[in-house]
Amino acid sequence: MSKTPNKRSQFMGDSPLFYKEPINLESGEGVWLYDKSGKKYLDVYNNVPVAGHCHPRIIASLTDQASKLNVHSRYVSDVVVDYSEKLTSLHSDNLSKLQMACSGTEAVEVAIKMARIYTGGQGIICSNATYHGNSHETFRMTIGPFEPEFRRVTYPESYRPIKDGLLEEDLCALYIKEVEKQIEGFNQDGIKFAGLIFCSIFANEGLPDFPKDYLSKVSKLVRDSGGVVILDEVQAGFGRTGTWWGYELSNVSPDIAVMGKPMGSGLPVSGVVTTEEISDSFHEKAFYFNTTAATPLQAAVGGTVIDIIQDEGLIENAEKIGGYLKAELLKIKDDFDYLGDIRGPGLFIGLDIVDNKEDKNPDREKAIEIVEILKGKGVLISNAGQYRNVLKLRPPLVFDSSHADFLLEELRASFKEVS
Ligand SMILES: Cc1ncc(COP(=O)(O)O)c(C=O)c1O
Repeated sequence: MSKTPNKRSQFMGDSPLFYKEPINLESGEGVWLYDKSGKKYLDVYNNVPVAGHCHPRIIASLTDQASKLNVHSRYVSDVVVDYSEKLTSLHSDNLSKLQMACSGTEAVEVAIKMARIYTGGQGIICSNATYHGNSHETFRMTIGPFEPEFRRVTYPESYRPIKDGLLEEDLCALYIKEVEKQIEGFNQDGIKFAGLIFCSIFANEGLPDFPKDYLSKVSKLVRDSGGVVILDEVQAGFGRTGTWWGYELSNVSPDIAVMGKPMGSGLPVSGVVTTEEISDSFHEKAFYFNTTAATPLQAAVGGTVIDIIQDEGLIENAEKIGGYLKAELLKIKDDFDYLGDIRGPGLFIGLDIVDNKEDKNPDREKAIEIVEILKGKGVLISNAGQYRNVLKLRPPLVFDSSHADFLLEELRASFKEVS
């Protein structure tokens, strides 16, 4: 992120930008982006244009619907109703009702409000390295103040586990204990527990491998304690993981799933799907409406995103190309002492950059150096995770094997250049 004293900062202030020297982009097509000078970049970062930049079918549905009608949600629209049916049918059976919004942040707000109204509680548990949005309430989960309404737990991971040398089952039990402790903390504070929110793949935490039964055991504990389970699919959803939803990887179904980012392929579209009971209690008490949400335009484009994912086999592609990339990266892992761990499902890969393989100390500076070197070579990635030392490979899902080979070539070259 950097600041530039220029017309942008004059009129927009210094909101964060990527890279030491920011890129001024002008156009995009498929997995490629072009800056003002005509320089071409392979996009290995953007998950919003899940079907690729400027997909002709997205442009057509956007212009067709905009030419016919766009109006807010307090009228009946078959386009919106049909979209709701289509989207809920992709989720597990209990999630039968859709509430739309405009950003991931808004959808998380809706999810938390639903949990609080349904349970009559206030207490929400989240992870200790999470990001669920930029509003006052959602940002509290990232920077606080956490208590009394929010309590954080150590997110589960097996690369830097809270205790070394344990069997997966025992490690899982230890992480579950963390959640138990926080539920108990709410009880002691007299705050009624409302639920827990996690990203289904802990993307912002650094995409850790975690005990396979963790989410199902956590879900049981939360429900047994009177709370609801919210899984955030803003990063994981819409096929990236090689499944429609990240929660499928853990064989669980939440009570509320939150969606955003790729949902409108760049048009602001987000939403939650939930159970009939939670939806009923929400609509009875919340009187929620949102002027630019659940519109025919959002629904038309959102429906086309789903159609493209299905028609172009993008979920299978994520699994195939993601698997290929991961396998090739694992082959060179031993060549570089700072490539600590390589992980992630489908077309979402994290490379944990460390001081050295033995200490596993996160090396954020080196991660940033690699991101900058790759930018010079025309490849856009980013660094993320609790320590911001995890290289994040998260391209549009139309990434094919030629793109993967180009990326691998540039990654290998960049790794050799790192100081
Ligand atoms: C997991 C997760 N949830 C929610 C959000 C918020 O989404 P938005 O920026 O659309 O408000 C983000 C944004 O990065 C996210 O990563």
